[in-house]
This record gives sequence, structure tokens and C-alpha cells, in this order.
Amino acid sequence: MRSFGATLLAVVIPWSVATSQVRVASPNGRNVVEVATHEGRLYYLVRRDGRPLLTPSMLGFEFRGAPPLRDGLRIVDSSRSTFDTTWTQPWGEVSRIRDHHNELKVSIAETGPPDRKFTLAVRAFNDGVAFRYEFPAQANLNDFEITDEQTEFAMADNARAWWIASNRPRLDRSEQLWSEGPVSTLDSVQTPLTMEARDGKTFVVIHEANLVDYARMNIRGPRMDNRTLRADLAPMADGVKVRGHTPFVTPWRTIQIADKVTELSPSVIGLNLNPPSVIASTDWIKPMKYVGIWWGMHINTMTWSSGPKHGATTANTKRYIDFAATNGFGGVLVEGWNVGWDGDWIQNRNAFSFTQAYPDYDLVALARYAHSKGVKLIVHNETSGGIENYERQMDSAFALYQSLGLDAIKSGYVTDTITGGHSHWSQRMVQHYRLVIEKAAQHHIMLDAHEPIHDTGERRTYPNMMSREGARGQEYNAWGGEGGNPPEHETILFFTRLLDGPMDFTPGIFDILRTKTGPARTNEDARVRTTLAKQLALYVVIYSPLQMAADLPENYVNQPAFQFIRDVAVDWDTSRVIDGRIGDYVIVARKQRNSSQWFLGAITDEEARTFDVPLTFLDRGKSYIADIYADGSGANWLTNPLAVGISHRTVTRNSVLHIAMAPGGGQAIRIRPAGRRP
Ligand code: NOJ
Repeated sequence: MRSFGATLLAVVIPWSVATSQVRVASPNGRNVVEVATHEGRLYYLVRRDGRPLLTPSMLGFEFRGAPPLRDGLRIVDSSRSTFDTTWTQPWGEVSRIRDHHNELKVSIAETGPPDRKFTLAVRAFNDGVAFRYEFPAQANLNDFEITDEQTEFAMADNARAWWIASNRPRLDRSEQLWSEGPVSTLDSVQTPLTMEARDGKTFVVIHEANLVDYARMNIRGPRMDNRTLRADLAPMADGVKVRGHTPFVTPWRTIQIADKVTELSPSVIGLNLNPPSVIASTDWIKPMKYVGIWWGMHINTMTWSSGPKHGATTANTKRYIDFAATNGFGGVLVEGWNVGWDGDWIQNRNAFSFTQAYPDYDLVALARYAHSKGVKLIVHNETSGGIENYERQMDSAFALYQSLGLDAIKSGYVTDTITGGHSHWSQRMVQHYRLVIEKAAQHHIMLDAHEPIHDTGERRTYPNMMSREGARGQEYNAWGGEGGNPPEHETILFFTRLLDGPMDFTPGIFDILRTKTGPARTNEDARVRTTLAKQLALYVVIYSPLQMAADLPENYVNQPAFQFIRDVAVDWDTSRVIDGRIGDYVIVARKQRNSSQWFLGAITDEEARTFDVPLTFLDRGKSYIADIYADGSGANWLTNPLAVGISHRTVTRNSVLHIAMAPGGGQAIRIRPAGRRP
């Protein structure tokens, strides 16, 4: 770390009105943040290549029982430093990550009583900028209750945004379809919020990092003008957003910046803003593919509750374990194994036991059986938002799982309101999730959270926090009513939700028309709206270190395309977006960790598309075999989704692959060094 000392940089003030100003630039000089006060209020702005990306945006807070911290502010001091380190992820989309940034710390104080002070920490990276508020311990700001964070993001133009609402159709839900529209039309939306500037030359993503003991940030749309967005914190039951006492730091507010949409992913700015891992030895943390007693419940052939269709029986679980062992899967998820599912399980949240199995499920014997087959049971903990019930049982439950060698949990929070009436995304829930991650780490347990708070990079500090849902996944293709996910869905997910971290989307449904459970489904019914080849491509496109083969095992029998799911990797050395357009298509290539093989996934929306992809990423002088799983002749997600063509060809880095995708289709390719097992 190099320190430039406490210099207040006096530069020409382009803000005609600002009274004092400090700035910091990214290492390549392209991203600049300027901080200034004007008439006692504090503002920042962001420039890219000298052009404003965010115009002066106000910073500040409102408190319960104390005056707002927003007026009568002055810059007291500032200092700058440079950081450049490279670190290795235990698992991830890429193995090595460079954290190269310049930091500016600006000390701010009120000019009169109550004389409070804080530091604005700003970091400028080549891939974006971030800032947070840091409050030192002080007499007049000790215990506090934040009722509003007034951080603004004033977009320089009426950028085009891809968004999901944070306040409807149901409270606190990330399981929605994306909309697109200008910033001026936004009401209340979730982050990551991906935007494209009007000149088409810059992409901006607003999100947050290192959310530890604070409320989740949503974004409120413009009120007074057409382009000024504002932080919108999720409330606790009494309306307070954050309770705390100094010293205290907020999460980082991140503004990722890229010239091209394909440069947004993989996004690492949030990881760089989280502290390094606190888990000394991570040998027990292992990415894996898994199958599970799961899809059956969603298509109503099995139940979570006890009775004749109970899915989690000892015999059924053994069948899944055998299937996993035969096909090289690491885990078997079992939902509905524990007492509490009978009756209305969403209302009866306190009835869940996390240690007591139903009588027809022999937990101990199954753990032993799975172990003998080299497979792990993934324990399901649905809480229905009964977090106090869960917290009461967590110690004994996690100790039990550890004693049985069960090292992965899929958790769930299906409810509209958390115990106590808090928002799903309130500070209380943020604290709860953190507690679960910490306790799981103590017991060597990996986590996959459904209905979670959005990912803010906590996997860097706790690499046992593997995957999460937090968007509309495959399950929507099983349920009636909303009609499933449209063909464009995953091409938007990739450039929005997936920028914050892995998603347990659960790809791999082969019975696309659901003929195994009744007459073939039409488009109006709940069914998968992709081709089969696209289901395969999702394993490469949608990153998750826990990746499910979601269909019933019997639906994979005699399916040559299942070989791709057996072969595909879940941990990567390198990831490259070859081409893409939000809502239209995306092509991703990833190199397997500690291996010389690559996987390529391409998906399209309802339009057929063709691409020529040069394989220049392959090693010089080597020859490879490409196992190609393409949409078959006449394939179409609507009329002919199952046609898949499998072919093999020899390729080198001079080869160009012609990729043809059907409407709603995709292509999945394994590229292995020649001579390796076919
Ligand atoms: C919703 C989850 O997303 C799903 O995977 C799970 O099966 C149900 N909740 C029940 O917990």
C-alpha cells in the first residue's frame, strides 16, 4: 500500500457551485470520482473518460430521534492510497482475481452542533467505483436508528435499465420476470440494476458489497427529475432501517462500469470489496453436481408431507443415491425429510423440526449408505420465514449433521413476512443469514440459500456460502398460473442477477413437455420453454458451484444428451463472455479449474440465431475433440423442443465453430484435449 498522505487536492472545480473538491481516479485513469460540498451538502460524481456518468449525487442520512446528517457539512481532510494485490478463490468463475484500486478517504464533519463526523471511503477500480460511509466512535453519534439513507445515483442521462420491482407484485420477491425501460420510468427496483447509457458506449451496474449488519439496498426511481435514483433500504417491522452504534461502517455502494455488455461478467468488484476468507482450511468445501428429491414435488408426483406420495422415503432416497453414484454426482438433495410439512407448512413455520425425521426416512442409515457410495446427502432446511424457530435449533441441528458427515444445506424462507413482521431483506434478516453462514462454517457445512437476500460477495469471506436462488428459477416451469419462464429469461438473468453471484437455477429438465406425467403440455400450461440443447447450455451459462440435474432420474435413462450433464465441470479457472446482448443471446466459454478442457454454452431467446465462434482461447499447438450438443434439425422450443444432435469433431485454436441455435434453443460443447475419454 502506498500512501499519498493527507493532501487536499485543489483542482479546477468543474462543478460551478462546489466549494471544495477532492477526487480519485482508477489505476487506468478512466474512472474518476469527485467529492465536493455545496451549500453544506455533500455530493459525489462519477466520470468515465472525462464524460459524466453520474452527475452530482447527494449523500446523507435521516435518523429517528436525531437531526439528519446531511446539512452543514464540510470536508475536513482527505488522503489517498493505492492497492494492488492478486488473490486466489478456493472455487469460482475465475481462480485468480486482481484487486487494483486507488482509495480516497474524505473526512467530513458538521459545521455546528451536534458536531458529528464520518469518513467517506471511495475506491476507484478499472471495472468500476465504490464508496461507503465509515462512522468513528463519537459522543454525539453513539447508538443510532437510521430511518433513511439518502444516497443518490444521478444518472447523467435517461439510461436504459433492466429491472425487477422491489415492491410488487408481492413483497420482497426476487422471483420475477425482468422489464426494460428508461431510468425515468423506474419506481422501486432491486439491484444489481443494469443500465446502458444512451450513447450505447457504457454499461453501468448499481449494487452493493459486504452487507453484514445493515438493511439490504433497493433503488427508488426518480421523483423530482427523470434520472436521479436513490438508495431505498428495506425496513424492520417498526419502520427503522438500521439500528447500530459507532464505530460502524455501511456496505459499499458499487457502480460497475464497462464499455461493452460482454465485459460485465464475470463481475469481481463486489468480491474485491469483501474481506479475505476467515476459513483457514477450505479442503472440505467442494463444488459439486447434485440430484434430488425435488422436481417430483413441484410437478405433484411426490409430496413434501407424509402420506402415500411422500418423496423422502428411505427406499426412494436410496434410489437417488444409487443414481448419483453411478453417474458421478456428488450430492443428493432430499426435501420433505423432516417433521413439519403436514398441513399448511408456510403458516405452520414453528412446527418445523430440523433434527427429527419422518418415520419412513432413516436419516442415520441413509447418511451411512450415501457415504458408502461416495455421495453426500444435502439436507433441506425450509424455515417458512420462522427464523426464531430455526435459530433455536441451529446449534443442535448443525452438530447432528456434522456428526453424520452431512456437509451441505439447502435452506428456504418461503413466506411474505418473516417472524416479527420484518421485511425479508431487513437488517434482522441480514443478521440471520450471517449467523447461519458463520454457524455452518463452524460445523463445516456448505450453504445454498433459497429466497435469500441478494449476494453481496460474502462468499469471499465465507467460501462455504456457495450458491443461492434469488431470481426466477426452473421451478416456475413446473407450476401453473404464471406460465413458466419465457425463452428470453436466462439471457437477461445473465447480465443482471448473475452479476452478483452464483445462482441455484436447477437446469437439466429433459421431460420438457411433461409427457411422463400426463398428456404433452401446450405453451399455455406449465412447461419448460426451451429446447433440450438449451437446458444443457445452461450448465455453462448460469454459474453455480452447486449445480443440479433437476429432472427425475428416470427421465435421464436412455438419453445420450445426459452425457453432457455427467461431463460438465462446476469449477472454473477462466470464464469469458464471447458475445451477448441483454434479452437476446449469450455465448460463454469457461475453462475447467486444474484441467485443460473448456466448455462452451450458447443460448438464445425466441429467435433462431447463428454465430461463428473462433476458438482462439485454446492452447497453441494442441488438438482437441469438441463434443457438440446442438439443436437438432427442425428444433423449436414451442413445437419440437426435444430434437438434439450430438456430433464430435477435432478442433484447434485455428478452428471456427459454427453455432446454430433454434428458436428458444442453445448449444453446449465440451472441448477436451484429443486422446481423452470420449
Ligand atoms: C422454494 C424453493 O425455491 C424450492 O426449491 C423448494 O423446493 C421449496 N421452496 C420448498 O422449500
